[in-house]
Order: sequence, then structure tokens, then C-alpha cells
Amino acid sequence: MNYIGSKHKLSSWLLKSINEVCGTDLSSLVFCDLFAGTGSVGRSFKPLVKSVIANDLEFYSYVLNRNYIGNNQELNASAYVEELESLKPIEGFIYNTYSEGGASGRLYFSAQNGRKIDAIRSQIEVWFSKSEIDEDLYYFLLASLLESADKVANTASVYGAYLKKLKKSAQNPLKLKPADFEITSGNHSVYNQNSNELIKDISGDILYLDPPYNARQYGANYHVLNTIAKKDTFVPKGKTGLRTYKKSAFCSKNQVADAFEELIKQADFTTIFLSYNNEGLMPAETVKSIMKQYGKYDLFETSYQRFKADKTENRNHKATGTTEYLHILEK
Ligand SMILES: C[S@@+](CC[C@H](N)C(=O)[O-])C[C@H]1O[C@@H](n2cnc3c(N)ncnc32)[C@H](O)[C@@H]1O
Repeated sequence: MNYIGSKHKLSSWLLKSINEVCGTDLSSLVFCDLFAGTGSVGRSFKPLVKSVIANDLEFYSYVLNRNYIGNNQELNASAYVEELESLKPIEGFIYNTYSEGGASGRLYFSAQNGRKIDAIRSQIEVWFSKSEIDEDLYYFLLASLLESADKVANTASVYGAYLKKLKKSAQNPLKLKPADFEITSGNHSVYNQNSNELIKDISGDILYLDPPYNARQYGANYHVLNTIAKKDTFVPKGKTGLRTYKKSAFCSKNQVADAFEELIKQADFTTIFLSYNNEGLMPAETVKSIMKQYGKYDLFETSYQRFKADKTENRNHKATGTTEYLHILEK
């Protein structure tokens, strides 16, 4: 998934850096990905550690992580995926509120994809409510739907706005692609909580922090994914059909330093890594002065080519250079 702040492309640098500090054998360690997003970091550590704890404030992210991290046993999913693929389309909330031809005139999805999302989402809920599928399969199917719907979304990259005309990839019919996960010998857990609450209840060896860097709230930028995941109804607001969303202290210039300090103070982990970049709300000096109060501090950095989506098409990206920091605290 194309996600703001995704660490997918930085995962080998992160692993190399964490290996440098914690050693190359991580097999007896508990690794926590407290701001997990797409789950890309937790997924790369899942086969290497004893246990992953994944968490995010957003429900769509919980769904992805509950599948990619939480699922750890083989599922017999193919017959269900096939049945979902062949359902008769229906005109439900996603079609009416966010799709071409729907009552609202919003253009997040083509008409046929909006109807298909509604049909698939309803059927998953029917199976789950009748206990025909268990929780593991439920989240596997939901994660597969979120990933597949995101591929055909008619946006420049996030759901803060839709494009005026259906772009090429949004005209493709949605294909339900199974969201395959890795089976490991470890035991993993997944949460959907505010980081600063959850931190009081967990402990472990490596705490990886990748909070938002700037004022862009994830709940606003990915609201359509939350609506597909939750399958609730509400009165959509404004041109983009926004739902009410949670606001993160890490996206607020006035609150971020206090929230960060509280998190570091509460953390019962041996080593803490913070990903942040040089364009973030907290200058590197502020991060350093907070972390230094709680133990031995170090800093790694790398330059990173970030890609900005073009306004009309997801192609033709413009590259911008940033410095990616990995702040380290041995507590
Ligand atoms: C930079 S992204 C993480 C990206 C992730 N590492 C990846 O590779 O996909 C930041 C994440 O923090 C989450 N978030 C923001 N505030 C939070 C909070 N207070 N507690 C937990 N998660 C939060 C957002 O929903 C978002 O998914």
C-alpha cells in the first residue's frame, strides 16, 4: 500500500541498524512496532524475533496488522476468496457515498468497484456473524479487501481528496488478491490503541517508534479505508465525505514533544529506536534532549528519496531528498 511514512523502502537499512545495536540474533527478543501503519516493519521482524507486538490508532491498520502479524497459522481461504470474487454486485454505503454513479457524486471508486466492495464487505460480515469464519479468516479477508480496494482507488495517493476523472488504475476492475502472511514459530499480538495508553501495559526488548512526522492526521487521510473496515454508517461531511476521526498528539506542534517524552518515560523496553526525518514537527535536537534524559543516546541517519504523487495520476512522481534519522536510546 502506498502509505504516508511507509518504511517499506527503508526496511533493510532499519534491520541493518537494529542489528548493529542489538546483535544479529534477535530470536529471543520481543519487538514492538507501536505505530505500525501498513505493518511493513513488524512483517520484516516477524520471522526474526520471538514475538512481535504491533499497534496502531487506526482501525484499518489494526485490520492489516491483525492479518500480517497476528495470523500465524495456515488458513483455508481460497474457496472463500473465490466465492467473494463471484458475488453479485450490490449498491450499498460505499457505492452510494464514495463511488461513480452513487447518490453523492464522489469519485473515490468506479461504479463497478464500489458495488463490488459493498458486496464483498457485506458477505464477509454475514459469514463472521454466523460463525462460518473465525477471527483469523475474518481479518485475512478484510485485509485482502482493503489492499485490493486501495489499488483501484481514484486518488493521487491518500483519501483526503478524490480525482475529478477516473484515472487509469481506478478503471481496472477490483480483483480480490489474498493478503498472504508469513507463518512463524513466534507468538504475536496486535492492538488498536493510543500508543501512550498501550505503553503502560506492555514490555519487551526492542521498541520501534515510527509516529507521524507532520500535521497530516492519518484518520482524515485514510478515512475511506476505515469506513470499509468498520462497515458502519454515518452522515458523511463535506465534499470528501469525511467521517469523524481520531486526532493524534504526534500531529500537533503544541502537543508532540510532551506526548513523545511521556512515551519514552513510560517505556519498559531495553532499546528504543525512533524513526523521524529532518522535516518533522520535532527538530532532531528536541528528540535528542528528551531521549538523553533516560539513558545512552545515539543517532544513525541516511538520505532518502521520497516520492510525491502527482495530482492527476499516481505515476509521474517527483522525487524529493530528505534525511531519515534513527534516534537510539539504550534505557
Ligand atoms: C509514519 S506512520 C507508520 C508507518 C509504518 N511504519 C509503515 O511502514 O507502514 C505513523 C502511524 O502512526 C499511527 N498513529 C498516529 N498517532 C498514534 C497514536 N497516538 N498511537 C498509535 N498510533 C498512532 C498512524 O495511524 C500511522 O499509521
